[in-house]
Amino acid sequence: MITVVGSINMDLVVRTDRFPKQGETAMGNLYTTIPGGKGANQAVAAARLGSGVQMVGAVGTDAFGQVLAEGLDNEGVQIEHVKQLDGMSGIANILLSEGDNRIIVVPGANHLLEEEGMDDLESLFKASDLVILQLEIPLPVVQRTLEICKRIGTPTILNPAPSAGYCKEMEPYWTYLTPNESEAEEIFGEQWEDALEQFPNRLIVTLGKNGARYFDGGRHVTVEGYETSAVDTTGAGDTFNGAFGVALSEQMPFEEAVRFANAAASLSVEKMGAQGGMPGREEVLRRMRGAAE
Ligand code: RIB
Repeated sequence: MITVVGSINMDLVVRTDRFPKQGETAMGNLYTTIPGGKGANQAVAAARLGSGVQMVGAVGTDAFGQVLAEGLDNEGVQIEHVKQLDGMSGIANILLSEGDNRIIVVPGANHLLEEEGMDDLESLFKASDLVILQLEIPLPVVQRTLEICKRIGTPTILNPAPSAGYCKEMEPYWTYLTPNESEAEEIFGEQWEDALEQFPNRLIVTLGKNGARYFDGGRHVTVEGYETSAVDTTGAGDTFNGAFGVALSEQMPFEEAVRFANAAASLSVEKMGAQGGMPGREEVLRRMRGAAE
């Protein structure tokens, strides 16, 4: 079983032909609300791939709160540890254009989570094969969870997104760190590839359509991405993390686990919405087989 400690947002998505310039009003051609949040996305990605998943997080008492909790429940994610707290749910304002996205997150209830609450969840963390975290919730909550998991011997994936929240104090505690290229640069500097050697088989840098890179103790490994035709890249990183967590929790060999996660991420971008294109296991295996033929 995987536990995800993280954010739950409603994504307010607007698509437009080009990003407006500063001060300009541009016309959009689509508006939709879709459940998201890096934590919830990673939980859904793992659940669709067949893993048991517990979500730890918070929604608000607004109309979105109920919809978000029900959405997770419908995906088979366990929500006993999703609190409903006074106030607004987290939202993400997502602008889609030119094959890319720009996102502003207003954390709402996500930022009301408290680190003391994580102490009460020690037995849940102990029963988990793996705990996945990101940085859209208060950093003391992340830090406390990492510390507990390290002490009790439960492996963790820290997806350091948004990377501004990452701090050096987290380093002794995470088992796996999964930044994308720009997050890796922000955390380790321009020479981030040198940092791979400090963390063999633990620091995995995702490269979008180009796959992912890590150091295996003897050599630098690039696991190639898969051919895809992207409709919406929102949530591709989350799909990678959820799938990578599933693969690791099943003791898949490391390189195979990265390949599995790449395949899942490549499928996720083919439909609208962070969770819209997240694949089931059979689709992922089919993509992997297809590329091997
Ligand atoms: O990673 C994509 C997610 O980032 C979106 O679903 C949005 O909610 C933001 O948290």
